[in-house]
Amino acid sequence: MLQNDLLLRAARGEAVERVPVWLMRQAGRVLPEYRATRARAKNFVEFVKNPELASEVTIQPVDILGVDAAIIFSDILVIPEAMGLPYQMIEAKGPWFEKTIKTKADIDALRIAEASDLDYVMQALTITKKALNQRVPLIGFCGAPWTIFAYMVEGSGSKTFSKAKQFLYTQPQLAHALLEKITLSSIQYLKGQVKAGADLLQIFDSWAGVLSQSMYEEFALRYISKICDALSPEVPLTVFAKDAHYAVAQIARTKCSVIGLDWTMDPHTARANAAGKTLQGNADPCLLYADEATLVKETKHMLNAFGKTSYICNLGHGLYPDLDKEKVKLFVDTVKTHRYTEA
Ligand code: CP3
Repeated sequence: MLQNDLLLRAARGEAVERVPVWLMRQAGRVLPEYRATRARAKNFVEFVKNPELASEVTIQPVDILGVDAAIIFSDILVIPEAMGLPYQMIEAKGPWFEKTIKTKADIDALRIAEASDLDYVMQALTITKKALNQRVPLIGFCGAPWTIFAYMVEGSGSKTFSKAKQFLYTQPQLAHALLEKITLSSIQYLKGQVKAGADLLQIFDSWAGVLSQSMYEEFALRYISKICDALSPEVPLTVFAKDAHYAVAQIARTKCSVIGLDWTMDPHTARANAAGKTLQGNADPCLLYADEATLVKETKHMLNAFGKTSYICNLGHGLYPDLDKEKVKLFVDTVKTHRYTEA
């Protein structure tokens, strides 16, 4: 039995003594301890593939920051790799793929990944689950099919993802074939993660914001919905579609339990569009650059706006590496000690 199951109760919309808090990219460069562990691996890809090191950095933020959940240290790009498209992480630049997807033959050559292809993630989850010793829930994750597609076609990060979008507009049928393969791989991967100990799953649709509402529905939401259908009600799922204000109501129609919000979304509008769902978010990571008084005031304002139930506190995107660890701690502590006044 979990000693702290606030995250899971909040995800299910049940009563909580206090709001749970964790942070996207909590296992990351903001912690000197992460940097020290990372230095023991040859490069990022090898780091991700080392279950002992991955487990170590997964637990660090639970010990150091006091967050209410651990998220397994890995990357969304392990799926393209398992399908046959290896990636590199280039210092100060981000992800890079030597091969990209251009033709039907490229898609045909891809495998549908199985959980056993990602055994190193399964091992990392098993080791971490044991080492956590029921202290907090363990979150598993994958990228949303559209975001994974975007990297596989574009070959790197991009402001516009115009190559990936061009593919959607010029070869829609092929795009669906690739999205389908990614979706099937992701379902097997997530099912494996649940077997290996993940208590909740999050789908990251980081590039939702480059699509129009109708394109999002056709090329993104349809596949997210398939993943939710395959995994729920076995385990609670969070869908975080960054910059997709236009899609909150559509996401609310899937079988997910939680909707992640970025900082541009207003809590009250999101509540109105997502009845029956738990919301997660949505502080601007840059708020953590502010002075302490501003940080505390704005955090409390956000907590009051979301209310105490059906809410998981987080940022609206991942922590930036140059944030001050003490400010990150202050954010977490502010959430944990906040008292709600009766409205
Ligand atoms: O703590 C956690 O949140 C868990 C671990 C995690 C990482 N990546 C580790 C990581 C998670 C959940 C991810 C997801 C991920 N990876 C996303 C979706 C979330 C988001 O940020 O929108 C995306 C788009 C990726 C792809 C990716 N990985 C990029 C664009 C980068 C480079 C950005 C950067 O900050 O340099 C990565 C690298 C990466 N993944 C780092 C970490 C801790 C930093 C790399 C390092 O240690 O050098």
